[in-house]
Formats: sequence, C-alpha cells, structure tokens
Amino acid sequence: MIANCKLQIANWKERIHKPVLLKETIECLNVEKNKNYVDCTIGEGGHAKEILKRNEPEGKVLGIEIDPELYKKLREEKLERLILVNDSYSNLKEIVEREGFKEIHGILFDLGISSWHIEKSGRGFSFLRDEPLIMRYDRRQKLTAERIVNEWPEKEIERILREFGEERFAKRIAREIAKARKTKPIKTTLRLVEVIKRAVPSFYQHRKIHFATKTFQALRIAVNNELENLRIALPQAIEVLEKGGRLVVISFHSLEDRIVKNFLKEKEREGKIKILTKKPIRPSKEEIIKNPRSRSAKLRAALKIK
Ligand SMILES: C[S@@+](CC[C@H](N)C(=O)[O-])C[C@H]1O[C@@H](n2cnc3c(N)ncnc32)[C@H](O)[C@@H]1O
Repeated sequence: MIANCKLQIANWKERIHKPVLLKETIECLNVEKNKNYVDCTIGEGGHAKEILKRNEPEGKVLGIEIDPELYKKLREEKLERLILVNDSYSNLKEIVEREGFKEIHGILFDLGISSWHIEKSGRGFSFLRDEPLIMRYDRRQKLTAERIVNEWPEKEIERILREFGEERFAKRIAREIAKARKTKPIKTTLRLVEVIKRAVPSFYQHRKIHFATKTFQALRIAVNNELENLRIALPQAIEVLEKGGRLVVISFHSLEDRIVKNFLKEKEREGKIKILTKKPIRPSKEEIIKNPRSRSAKLRAALKIK
C-alpha cells in the first residue's frame, strides 16, 4: 500500500512540468520590471510564467508556439500580459512586426520537444509507448515519421539517421527499415523499435541509452525541419533585439548546440554581440535528479551590443 502510494507520488511528480535551467535562464535574460521579452518556444509556459512574474506591472511576453494543441491549452489559461501566437519561430521578424511588439529586452529559445509531447500528445515521440508514427508538432504539415520510414529511399533514411541522429548504425538500421516495410508498412512506434532492434548488435541493446533514442531523435528533427528553422531564426533574433538585450538558447543535443555556438562566435567577430557564456551552462546534479530530462541541456547566452 505504502509502496504503491510512493509510486503514485513519483509518477505525479514526473508529470508536473519542470522548466529546464529556470533560474539560470532568468538570470541570463536579465529579466527586469516593465521590460518586454519573446519566448520563441513557449510550450506549456514554464519559463514564460516566471518571466511574467518578474517583469510586472507593465512588461509583456510575446509567446510563440508552433503546436496548435499546446497553443490552445496555454491560451485557455488567459495569462495577463502574454501575447500568444500560433506560428513558427522561423517567422520571428514577421511575427514581431505584425504584433507591433517593440523594445525587446530578451529572447528565449528552449529547443525541441516538451514533456507534453512525449507523455500526452499520442503522436509517437516516445519509443516506450505504442503510438502511431506521426512526430509532427504542426498537424497542418504533411510530412510525418510514417511517411519517412515507408516512402523515403533507404539512402535518404541512412543520411538523416547519420546527420540528425549521429547514429553509428545508420546504414544497418536504414537497411532493416527498407527490408521490413516490404512485408508490411511500419506504422507504429513499437514496430519501428522492433525493426531497429533487429538491425543493431546485442551490446548496443544493453547500454544506458536506449538503442532507439537516436533514430527517434533523427526522425523528429527531420519531420519538423528543426535545424533549418533554428538557422533561420537566430539572425532574426539578433535583428529584433534592442541594444543591450539578451539572447538565451537552451539546446538538447550537440547538433543544435553547434549551430548556436558557431552563430554566436560569428556575430561576436562581427562586433554585434558579446558572448556571456564562454562555456555552456549545464544543469546541476540536483536538477538532473529532480528532472532527468534536463541532463543533456546546454544554455548559451549573448548580449546585443550593436
Ligand atoms: C522544450 S519545449 C519548451 C518548453 C517551455 N520552455 C516550457 O517551459 O514550457 C519546446 C517547444 O517549442 C515548440 N516548437 C518547436 N519548434 C518550434 C518552432 N519552429 N516554432 C515555435 N515553436 C516551436 C514545441 O512545440 C515545444 O512546445
């Protein structure tokens, strides 16, 4: 009975949404009273709500969310001083102009997927749940993970697994996918996990990181065009920030972090920004214990000087 109770409490705690590197984000954004901020990936509003607590009474937050379901969920909360937009941050400049949002003191990107996507969306983001292979944030878009695994040429699948997943067994997994789909289309997450399992050696199936992690990451990045969106958005963020404003980016894998790092270095060389984090900020041990999803997070921040 007690054990059962403990388990329920643990599950309940896991379900509570915990924004990653919250304190560090607020510090790096330099959140001040009456200043305006843009949250480019507002999700469930974890970071944005903390900003709104600290930039009252007049400061506003412009929140951008590509997923219509998450957008609706947050809109129902009717938060004061929040302007919420259902769009992609790759259109950042246009959104800011359309909303007449001015004097932007800080911009936040907390990249990737939200806990809600994994636990509640039912769209196949997790290899631990049996769900249809959808993996798109925006249901208006046509591409899904199912289309990639069943329709793309084997070589293309191998390429995205290597490039977006940094998967060392990309070739073997792509080959097994191409073989399996000849018998029957691969429509669900657990069928894909079975196919990956057949492709990888036994030692790979018994490591700390689940053997399907990288394939699932690669498919999600490809479906949502995540790296390209980030490349398009970063220059717009620097452009719309006011002088003295801050850019903060939290990334969750090396490909995203490399894009952010190289971009910031280039802008620093051009004399447009000053990098505030020579090395990325990582979550503390305590945060990782409380919120295991934070373990791969890296935060980089910069100050606009020109
Ligand atoms: C890690 S979550 C953000 C969590 C949020 N900081 C919080 O505390 O609730 C990333 C969010 O960005 C959204 N997203 C992904 N790509 C996007 C894009 N191109 N434009 C806008 N939002 C995007 C995802 O749907 C997801 O909700």
